[in-house]
Amino acid sequence: MLELRNVTKQYRVGSRSAIHAVDDVSMTLAAGEVLALYGPSGSGKTTLIELIAGLKTPDAGSILVGGRDLQKMSRSQASDYRLNDLGIVMQPSSLQPGARAIASASMKLMVGRRSARSRVEPLLAELGLGDRLHHRTEQLSMGERQRVLIALALSREPKLVLADEPTASLDTANTRQVLGLLRGVCEARNMALLLVTHDPEAAAFADEVQELRDGRLGDRRLDARPLEAG
Ligand SMILES: Nc1ncnc2c1ncn2[C@@H]1O[C@H](COP(=O)(O)OP(=O)(O)OP(=O)(O)O)[C@@H](O)[C@H]1O
Ligand SMILES: [Mg+2]
Repeated sequence: MLELRNVTKQYRVGSRSAIHAVDDVSMTLAAGEVLALYGPSGSGKTTLIELIAGLKTPDAGSILVGGRDLQKMSRSQASDYRLNDLGIVMQPSSLQPGARAIASASMKLMVGRRSARSRVEPLLAELGLGDRLHHRTEQLSMGERQRVLIALALSREPKLVLADEPTASLDTANTRQVLGLLRGVCEARNMALLLVTHDPEAAAFADEVQELRDGRLGDRRLDARPLEAG
């Protein structure tokens, strides 16, 4: 589903030496797989997500999604990729103030309002928000807001779901609930899920964990559970 081949991204600020934000990263993610990239602040997690989303261009290497090279896509193919093949789970702060849950979650469905809502309603119900459809952003808890954004990300049934610190504003109990639901919904639809986080609790939800440090990716580890102890 997703393949990165020797991907490198450097930043240069002024005349200082370059920052190797992503350094020769190669990895693959198959349909239905749940992988967490785990690393401290500044390790390159967000940069990697932006590269995979096509929002940044690598300095070297290639990124293939469903066998297609992102760098070789035309502008319209790239926007089609971002709209249809990709689901990005955003942070609660990106929810529009005053908007109702059902309206926020239907934003990516560019069909009539009624059919958009009828498509997104079962997804919200699956995420435990069946009785919060008409709540406005301010009337939702942080965990509920995060679940609305999961529904938004998944609303067009993408093949690949990217989540950058999806539980940053949640406590431990909510982190477990939200990630359990996210994972369950992705698995049921055979979507590949790539989660990046500095939170061991969140990383432990994936089937496999790979450590990111100074832009370099470590070995893939099965069974993330031992992280919980550390
Ligand atoms: N636009 C930019 N220009 C210059 N340097 C940048 C830019 N964006 C990120 N960096 C640097 O690249 C490195 C990786 O940043 P990135 O945001 O990918 O890390 P991160 O793992 O997401 O961190 P955090 O956990 O704090 O979100 C950092 O050292 C950061 O300072
Ligand atoms: Mg980040």
